[in-house]
Amino acid sequence: MASPQTGSLVLTGTVQADARAPGGHELHVNQLEVFHLVQEEFPIQSKEHGTGFLMEHRHLWIRSPRQQAILRIRHEIIRACRTFFDDRGFLLVDTPIFTPNACEGTTTLFETDYFGEKAYLTQSGQLYNEATAAAFGKVYCFGPTFRAEKSKTRRHLMEFWMVEPEVAFAELADVMTLAEEFLTSIVAHVLKRRREELKVLDRDMKKLEAIVPPFPRITYAEAVERLQKKGNPIQPGDDFGGDEETILSNEFDRPAIIHRYPTALKAFYMQNDPENPDLALCMDVLAPEGYGEIIGGGQRIHERDKLLTRLKAHRLPEDAFRWYLDLRTFGSVPHAGFGMGIERAVAWICGLEHVRETIPFPRMLYKIYP
Ligand code: 4AD
Ligand code: MG
Repeated sequence: MASPQTGSLVLTGTVQADARAPGGHELHVNQLEVFHLVQEEFPIQSKEHGTGFLMEHRHLWIRSPRQQAILRIRHEIIRACRTFFDDRGFLLVDTPIFTPNACEGTTTLFETDYFGEKAYLTQSGQLYNEATAAAFGKVYCFGPTFRAEKSKTRRHLMEFWMVEPEVAFAELADVMTLAEEFLTSIVAHVLKRRREELKVLDRDMKKLEAIVPPFPRITYAEAVERLQKKGNPIQPGDDFGGDEETILSNEFDRPAIIHRYPTALKAFYMQNDPENPDLALCMDVLAPEGYGEIIGGGQRIHERDKLLTRLKAHRLPEDAFRWYLDLRTFGSVPHAGFGMGIERAVAWICGLEHVRETIPFPRMLYKIYP
């Protein structure tokens, strides 16, 4: 019979301060009640296990101190996001998960059968946020989002959580400042409340303390020049991949805002720059230390005719977007917003190699167990 290594019991006694104890306190026990004496060997031992093995045992792995520290910090980041928007008069308006149309391109949609009709799991709450922003002014949504992206990188999940603010009467510059204040506030919040957990993760806190405004703001064109100077083969008009993002985000000690990408690289709803219509009034915020994009957003097209032309150019079904066009038919105003992926923010703030440890039960390419 294996000796029991796990179990559940209730210990009763007196708590006493003791500087030698890991938590600063010790329990002097005078009563013990056993609930569950386990005879089987606990699958996770204090030795090196492969990631595959740990992922298969995710339901037990989350009991370890490191995983607990990460998930506690995740909670704190979520709390900080909500507090930030709530304190600024944003209204939380939830957006649907089953949707009739794409938001971020048709190649990453999870299709489902909706009573004989095609429906897709949402890629972003943005389009609905635009409707609620037109009704309430400043709104945000916070929920799970889905991307059927055949990517097996340290930055991609199939299911992730996104917090998305949307603001009526705002332009690109306004949401750049909003994103800057937002990230600064989240990091400060975690530093204030979760130092113990950051210590468990060996996180270099100096790097987090450096996250203060102003964040560098560079155009896509400047970013391409910087990459070329580093010997990267990128050409103007090319999109940034993981490598380019890593190089750029290693250049600064705080998040960098890259703005005005070529319209051709971006989603259908992006407003274009009146000074150069080939550029979109958009931004990506890259976290430092090689983490890359954590925020994407910008200004939306608010003119009906322009939007219709763009829908056609992207071969999107006009019928599914009737309601979205209505927003441009009745009292349309310039508006802008962004979305931040929670898991990427957690990976950066915790200093993790991979997003798979940032969510309790990650959904990755071909992996859905447990
Ligand atoms: O840049 P994205 O695609 O932008 C949007 O979805 C906009 N509609 C948001 C908006 O303006 N309201 O995604 C936004 C963020 C990314 O910057 C990234 O942090 C995260 O969502 N993200 C992912 N995180 C994990 N796994 C994936 N596959 C992700 N795809 C995007
Ligand atoms: Mg993006």
